[in-house]
Amino acid sequence: MVDDDQTNRPNHGTEMKRTIAICNQAGGVGKTTTTRDLGFELAERGHRVLVLDADSQGSLGEFLGLNPHRSERQSIWQFIASEADPAREEPPPDMLCEAYGLTVGISNLQLIKLERRLIEQRQPHRLYTILASLGDRFDYVLIDCPPNINEISIQALFAADELIVPVQTEEKAVAGMFLIQEELIETNKRRMPFRPTLKIAGFLPTRYNPSRNLHKHCLTEIERMTASLNCALFDPIREYIAVAEACNAGKPLKLHAPHCPAVRDIQNLADRLSA
Ligand SMILES: Nc1ncnc2c1ncn2[C@@H]1O[C@H](COP(=O)(O)OP(=O)(O)OP(=O)(O)O)[C@@H](O)[C@H]1O
Ligand SMILES: [Mg+2]
Repeated sequence: MVDDDQTNRPNHGTEMKRTIAICNQAGGVGKTTTTRDLGFELAERGHRVLVLDADSQGSLGEFLGLNPHRSERQSIWQFIASEADPAREEPPPDMLCEAYGLTVGISNLQLIKLERRLIEQRQPHRLYTILASLGDRFDYVLIDCPPNINEISIQALFAADELIVPVQTEEKAVAGMFLIQEELIETNKRRMPFRPTLKIAGFLPTRYNPSRNLHKHCLTEIERMTASLNCALFDPIREYIAVAEACNAGKPLKLHAPHCPAVRDIQNLADRLSA
């Protein structure tokens, strides 16, 4: 990333912060990969991006080479689950770190213990309050959700303005699309009257291999379901080994394998989001 002055950064004076949760209860559908690569793409375009890991597996930090399980650094979740009043106290600055031009809120296995505290606190708005306190420091906040509905994902869904729902082009994943819709209804009950209605920005078919008949069939099913749910559908992210390799290398795909066609897929997604 280049200095602020040299970027083609959009006009922040008029831009509103968008908090987007990347969410699906199904595991392994590409939530974390999408968070990392979309975040990186938006940052490269000059946006100020915070990517926040809401999963105790800590994959987002790992996929960005941050070694979250060994890190001495406190996670933003420790602050969220502390006694601090998030409306009055700023999060300690070292709870966020930098990687590849992104600001990152890591998570790790401690989140399992912290979740118990959050359940006791009965304050599903704590993450929202902290993100609000960061004011206009970011143009995009992308929250990488866990593969289940727990107190952490409830916090994420309370904080978000919209959802991107990655759906793997596999039969089981397609069937799970209804669950998201049901969860959205529950979430919106919880948000009233404090937060506007949470909306699905779109379903995102992932790990798509157009040479496989099963994937093509599932994509048609996803299109049909998306239309029946009256939601937007993004173009698929195709499956390439380089995507998995980038995760092992702890780097955004665009840096690890700039010529991988999935980079173009992520760019399409970023175009659609900012259209
Ligand atoms: N487009 C793709 N092509 C190839 N491999 C992919 C692609 N997207 C994701 N993967 C691989 O699939 C695995 C799961 O991806 P990822 O961790 O992003 O999913 P997730 O939904 O966040 O999983 P979890 O539910 O466990 O959090 C990873 O090993 C990742 O490298
Ligand atoms: Mg994940």
